[in-house]
Amino acid sequence: MNLHTFYKITSFCCLVFFSLLNIAFGQINPTYLRTEYKVNPFVEEAKPRLSWELEGKGFNKSQSAYQIMVASSEGLLEKNKADLWDSKKVSGNNTNQIEYSGKSIASGQRVYWKVKAWDEKDKEGKWSEIQSWELAKPDANDWQAKWIGIDLNHLAEKAEYHLPPSPYLRKQANLSKKIKSARLYISSLGLHNFYINGEKIGKDFFASGWTDYNKRVYYNVYDVSDKLKAGENVFGAILSNGWYAGYLGYALLVGSPQVKQFYGKFPLLKAQVEVQYEDGSKEQIITDGSWKTSTGAILESDFLEGEKHDARLEPIDWDKVDFDDSKWKNIQVFEDKPGQLLQLYPSNPVRVVEELKAKSIKKIAEGKYIVDFGQNFAGNIHLKLRGKLGDSLVFRYGEMLFPDGSLMVDNLRKARATDTYIFKGDKVEEWSPSFTFHGFQFVEISGLKEEPKLDFLTGLALSSDLDQVGHFESDNAMLNQLYSNIIWTQRANYIDIPTDCPQRDERLGWTGDAQVYMRSAIFNADVAPFHKKWIQDLHDSQWPNGAYPVYSPMPVNEQGVAAIRASDAFSPGWSEAGIICTYEIFKAYNDHRIVRESLPFMNKFMAFLKARTKDGVLKEKSFEDVNPKGGFGDWLSVGEKTSPDLLATTYYFYCNKLMAEMCRAIGDLQLANDYEKESLTVKNGFKKHYMEESGRLKTNSALYGNGEGYVEGQNGFAGHTQTAYANALYSGILNEEDQILAGKFLRELVEANDNKLTTGFLGFKPLLPALTSSGSSDKAYQLLQSTEYPSLGYEVVNGATSIWERWDSFTKDKGFIHNAAMNSFSHYAFGSVNEWMFENMLGIKAKANGYQEIYIQPEIGNYGINKASGSFRSMAGNIKSGWTKTNGELIQQIEIPVNVKAFCFVPVTETASIQINGEPIDNNNIVKSIKKMEGKVMVELGSGNYTIKSKI
Ligand code: BGC
Repeated sequence: MNLHTFYKITSFCCLVFFSLLNIAFGQINPTYLRTEYKVNPFVEEAKPRLSWELEGKGFNKSQSAYQIMVASSEGLLEKNKADLWDSKKVSGNNTNQIEYSGKSIASGQRVYWKVKAWDEKDKEGKWSEIQSWELAKPDANDWQAKWIGIDLNHLAEKAEYHLPPSPYLRKQANLSKKIKSARLYISSLGLHNFYINGEKIGKDFFASGWTDYNKRVYYNVYDVSDKLKAGENVFGAILSNGWYAGYLGYALLVGSPQVKQFYGKFPLLKAQVEVQYEDGSKEQIITDGSWKTSTGAILESDFLEGEKHDARLEPIDWDKVDFDDSKWKNIQVFEDKPGQLLQLYPSNPVRVVEELKAKSIKKIAEGKYIVDFGQNFAGNIHLKLRGKLGDSLVFRYGEMLFPDGSLMVDNLRKARATDTYIFKGDKVEEWSPSFTFHGFQFVEISGLKEEPKLDFLTGLALSSDLDQVGHFESDNAMLNQLYSNIIWTQRANYIDIPTDCPQRDERLGWTGDAQVYMRSAIFNADVAPFHKKWIQDLHDSQWPNGAYPVYSPMPVNEQGVAAIRASDAFSPGWSEAGIICTYEIFKAYNDHRIVRESLPFMNKFMAFLKARTKDGVLKEKSFEDVNPKGGFGDWLSVGEKTSPDLLATTYYFYCNKLMAEMCRAIGDLQLANDYEKESLTVKNGFKKHYMEESGRLKTNSALYGNGEGYVEGQNGFAGHTQTAYANALYSGILNEEDQILAGKFLRELVEANDNKLTTGFLGFKPLLPALTSSGSSDKAYQLLQSTEYPSLGYEVVNGATSIWERWDSFTKDKGFIHNAAMNSFSHYAFGSVNEWMFENMLGIKAKANGYQEIYIQPEIGNYGINKASGSFRSMAGNIKSGWTKTNGELIQQIEIPVNVKAFCFVPVTETASIQINGEPIDNNNIVKSIKKMEGKVMVELGSGNYTIKSKI
């Protein structure tokens, strides 16, 4: 045996030995340590919350205790010298949201932490790897930098759109000594790119995000230690209007008196570079009156209208040392606005999350080509091409083509969505817009002298950079495509805020869309930081009367009225996002803090609703004061309309229920009881008001007259609709016996409609879950797999690569049959079916907050699907569930993370046929408990990998 083979064999034996040892000793080890949801982040919280996952081989492993150590240096922590906090051994199975309770941390201080765990037998595990967090600038006094900027509005070309050029800002400064470390703290009202010595800092787009800038502005922090050098350094920035001063929403379309500059007239920057020298001394470079400014290559930039870049005007080396800025103007300095908070950006930054290769290029006219990326997405293009000095290319973006191959842009309405690039004419030039994005699959390029090679254009998919946590696949190709469409549509619409669509002149944080989609989003990505931000936006945009708005952020005019469109106020099913989205974060991420912080706002909203009720029922005509009357209702439903007050009452009940649960969780029992009591009043009121003796739901349709002023009011209103039953069942407003009747009516309605749905945004989300909870999973599967109008499958067979606003936004035989003015091809609301796919097809459902206790209850039957599998990385770890049906045998494959208790359902009546990991279930020492139930067996399992076989 040669030495190499000897080593190989011995190391293999060691591996086996230590693996066995691991199982035998069964230790559990913490991994994936996060502080406030992020790995090694900057935070502003004095008491950030710490979370981890656990790894451990074998079965039924759980944590009985943990110990956290926090130290001011890695070195100290390695020696177990926790000079900031030693939690000591704490009993319990908590693995997340544990508040730091040590010594106070100074702003700018990075601290280091590690954790170890004891298993269920009190066996001690290993210390985790060391992770860290750094306190940013929680205190306003930490800021010396000033807001700086310049008004260039007078330089905007006289054209249809008012688009001033971007100001370029620079400052040269000497750093006298050897640098140890440096941080950049940076914020802008509007958007910025920041450069140090010619290098762009960070890969982030659209910082500092969209907020109600009058109340709150965000900053980001970057470690720039290796970007600076002793001696001369240059700091540069380019600014753009963004959400702060650019065009927003459909203001132009609806003829609003104000169409742009909703928060300010031009962008401003505030930046502070803090340098720590090796000798311990410090130095700051701040934005102030010493900065110089000029214009440059970016002649226009706007989210809705696009970007124009004239490379001939790039001030060469403006961001490098020794550039002559004597001709540049002095910048202007602006005061802080009173009451405007400056806080750390809570979400993850918008970044390029995927690069797409062009699939094809087609010539459609002289010099005009269409590039197809094969996927509807939101983002930008990256151009790499050689051109002559002064040659220009014009890029227009569209989601679809007309049958003649030309670009369909009708659905963009007043969004010009056009970029222009003018060549400077030296070697190959590379360019990508900085301050805009488009929703598209196709790009029309005008001005090409000849057909370029396909790789001249790359698609850059932009999205808030959230960790992907879900996976889904099945034996149905249409469903797999549908899942991909859901993922892409979420990415395209989770750009700083959750938007309705990324392409037309809207892109607003519509609250109804966000709330129906919320749980679906959680199964796809770690949305906690993203929604932590948006829930704050919701609170900031709460109306003085307590109502949450229909979209958020919500710019208002001096009269306090919606500035984009005066009638945008509140609506049932939309405004409830303030409660529902907060609840979803609380539930999925075991986040109590968000409940505590949101409580005053949520209470105010609940009081607003309560004032509109009588006997627990949202009084008829109680939302007559909004436009459209009664609110948006079951938006985009097909067929008979569900009465808006019935829907509003169901939502009011649901919110009371969620409030009671949240209040109980944070220990406010009095409030919890109040909400519970109110929910009972609503329940009774609902039955009295909306239910016939037979359990059939009704409404007083005469109240709506000829329906004028209501959304599609001419169709009349009813209570006996799929949407009404689906919401009633989902919300829990019905007594048990009424649930059975509602389930029967819902099934009948689906059958009577040729097994097709009639639901809109509010009705579709609960439809499949309600069918399943009332024993009609066969119908849920039928609706899901349908490829006929109206269904999601219909979109897929008509070529969709994303979720569409309407079931038939486009059809292969009829083309664009709808008013192209409201016909988005990237609208996630109907993607809310993802919730059912994860909770009912894969069967992964939270029993306790944060998925520490779960159900694995897939709906399995002769429903046309024989195989489904997927996973969800929850707050408690990665959960896997899959099942395959073959020749009378069912194989369920389940993976339960350490410290999680799962109640798994096997759809058979007898235990005799069930085997777990090859052993009969009745005599199986890894099973915690077994319970026979009607038509199924419930098996309690702890952590581990399981293969459950049964005869069906
Ligand atoms: C948006 C929707 C939104 C709706 C309000 C539309 O223009 O695109 O998704 O919820 O308005 O009904």
